[in-house]
Amino acid sequence: EKMERQEVVTSSKTHVLLFPFTAQGHINPMVQFSKRLASKGLKVTLVATNKSMQSQDSSIKVEHIANLLDEGDQIINSVDSFLDRLQVAVSHGLPELIEKQKGLGCPVKIVVYDSTMPWVLDILHKLGLYGAVFHTQSSAIAFFLGAKIFHGSLKIGSLEGENVVLPSMPLMGVKDLPSFISDMDAYPALLRLVVNWMASQWPIKTIGPTIPSMYLDKRLEDDKDYGLSLFKPGDEDCIKWLDTKESGSVVYVSFGSLANLGEDEMEELACGLKQSNRYFLWVVRASEVSKLPTNFATEASEKGLVVNWCPQLKVLAHPAMGCFMTHCGWNSTLEALSLGVPMLAVPQWTDQPTNAKYVVDIWEAGVRVKVDEKGKIRREEIEMCIREVMEGERGNKLKRNAVRWKEVAQEAVDKGGSSDKHIDEFISELACR
Ligand code: UDX
Repeated sequence: EKMERQEVVTSSKTHVLLFPFTAQGHINPMVQFSKRLASKGLKVTLVATNKSMQSQDSSIKVEHIANLLDEGDQIINSVDSFLDRLQVAVSHGLPELIEKQKGLGCPVKIVVYDSTMPWVLDILHKLGLYGAVFHTQSSAIAFFLGAKIFHGSLKIGSLEGENVVLPSMPLMGVKDLPSFISDMDAYPALLRLVVNWMASQWPIKTIGPTIPSMYLDKRLEDDKDYGLSLFKPGDEDCIKWLDTKESGSVVYVSFGSLANLGEDEMEELACGLKQSNRYFLWVVRASEVSKLPTNFATEASEKGLVVNWCPQLKVLAHPAMGCFMTHCGWNSTLEALSLGVPMLAVPQWTDQPTNAKYVVDIWEAGVRVKVDEKGKIRREEIEMCIREVMEGERGNKLKRNAVRWKEVAQEAVDKGGSSDKHIDEFISELACR
């Protein structure tokens, strides 16, 4: 009880502003982190840069400082121009918001900002405020990014066919490296130095999995919103459709909020799903629907359901879930592991190849769909991998492993678990500033 009282006292003094990057995979984990901070008594305000980002959760106040992205817009096609517009809007909007909070008697103590926007720290310095970087991807990727930032001109492209040896990481082949590294000039030896140096300089606090607690420790009751959605709300009809399917019988397919498959790969995927003769639920975003083979959705309707967006956590938590064919975005990966769903890894770019490496070889909770010599997925391989994950002793083993990770996830977010402890440490550090 004493402890609880103490938390409340801190809350009246500590106001944290959390500023996610305008992409679904970055918003969701930051919103979950906000909720955890709010549940520990802090005042949290979430900075939004798109009007559709609305919270139904009263513990989080959302403040809009811009409206930058229309639904269906693809940041991926024009990252630089988007970042320019974002920076201009934020350089005015953020100081104004911080000033407003001061005027309201709730001065901001610290701004937690997404690592995609390092320039936010310059704005904060001018205002005399602290900043904390929130990196939405894995620790392994944080190290690689550090390597890129500090030794951007080093080459590891020459390592084709060899492994890269890094402390605390599995042996990595070139295909397992994040895509932003393999284009670079880098030596593994230097990479090693950077990794050691970073680990000694910046003790990274790992938190997560950033999944609503109702799916994990059940400590917080609310699950009003997972992230603040940039997309039209997920189609609940797909849950009713799943309700009609047997336990463990459905293949769920999604490539997240950004990845684009080519038309040829969409066709291979469509045919692979059909050939597998399994039930499938496939998320094809509205901007991608035109790439589906003609009449596919109607013709496949006996076995499959195609939707533009879905409530992914509810889908993964559904008893009908058999496996998840995923691009291995970090959120999707953690969600599948946390809900005990084995994966078919089809990584596309950035951190995804490295995440796939961990899913397949380290956590042994999935298989990697091999690509052909042109780097494309093929229908036969998809069909084979679905069988491998859904059938036989291998399938059982992958499922058992996935369920084991679910338990580990739960331990991490439970009171006193690693994630919970690191969040407490973060809050204590704020109190000392
Ligand atoms: C991006 C990067 O691509 C990813 O590699 C990085 O790790 C985070 O940022 P994205 O590609 O969108 O994210 O993938 P992911 O990280 O999996 O995030 C997608 C989020 O959208 C997940 O939380 C998922 O639950 C949600 N989602 C996806 C839905 O709610 N409904 C859907 O239909 C599809």
